[in-house]
Amino acid sequence: MDLKLTGRRALVTGGSKGIGLAVAEELAGEGVDVAICARNAAEVEAAAERLRRLGHTVHAQAADVTIPGQVIDLVERSAQALGGLDILVNNAGAAHPGNFESLTDEDWQGDLDVKLYSQIRCTRAALPHLRQSPAARVININSVYARYPDPSFFATTVNRAACLNLSKALAREFAGEAILVNSVNIGLVVTPQWQNIRARRAPDLSEEEFFASLARDEVPLGRFGSVAEVSGLVAFLASDRASYLTGTSIDVAGGMGKYV
Ligand SMILES: NC(=O)c1ccc[n+]([C@@H]2O[C@H](COP(=O)([O-])OP(=O)(O)OC[C@H]3O[C@@H](n4cnc5c(N)ncnc54)[C@H](OP(=O)(O)O)[C@@H]3O)[C@@H](O)[C@H]2O)c1
Repeated sequence: MDLKLTGRRALVTGGSKGIGLAVAEELAGEGVDVAICARNAAEVEAAAERLRRLGHTVHAQAADVTIPGQVIDLVERSAQALGGLDILVNNAGAAHPGNFESLTDEDWQGDLDVKLYSQIRCTRAALPHLRQSPAARVININSVYARYPDPSFFATTVNRAACLNLSKALAREFAGEAILVNSVNIGLVVTPQWQNIRARRAPDLSEEEFFASLARDEVPLGRFGSVAEVSGLVAFLASDRASYLTGTSIDVAGGMGKYV
């Protein structure tokens, strides 16, 4: 399917690896000019090199989405480098394990900053550019924990529920300006953050064994997903084929989550 995305301009936060890099690659493969950010400058530059091989304009910037000034600078320089912005993918984030009694105020604040406030600030900074776009999209990468509380990821669960509500409320507020906002809820997807967890917790198990053991109880499909299984959906949501979708919340989770 030709998604007709050629010439569109996207900013993907956390685009140096994992889901963000896969999304940036998928979009660039569809002819989109992309901007990416992450905190680790060397990793951002390495990712940008990969993306440039796909033949489109790439802007790469080391930026921390929890720092308001860096968010504004990121969005402005990205829009300048690409000549505007049509698509914002709020992806940067990290899992923050911990149950209710183990989490401190600092833990809660740090998790809120990287999950909820980053999406608020990036979207706010991108709005003037999205308003100039004929096909504006905000795609928020979220988690099934937003609707399926897991006390061992207590802050993630609560803060992702706020992110889900943010997406829906943004969709309603900006529908009149045809800025479409959707949430993509991830279950368990193999990325560097999970590869690091395996290396820490079970260095003797192969990745396949480790991921299968975690997926067995929670994921009806019985396996972790791949980043390509997320990036295809994000590209679709960014395209004109998804022009009547806003305020939706789509799980990419192999059936994980005991809710309707
Ligand atoms: N993989 C899963 O199973 C899963 C499940 C549910 C939700 N998610 C969500 O999906 C998103 C992507 O996760 P992933 O698994 O691809 O993670 P990952 O492999 O750890 O990649 C995360 C990306 O975000 C960047 N990042 C993290 N904190 C940042 C910050 N403060 N400012 C700017 N960039 C930052 C990282 O680079 P730097 O560290 O260099 O900044 C990296 O580029 C996250 O929001 C995560 O919470 C993933």
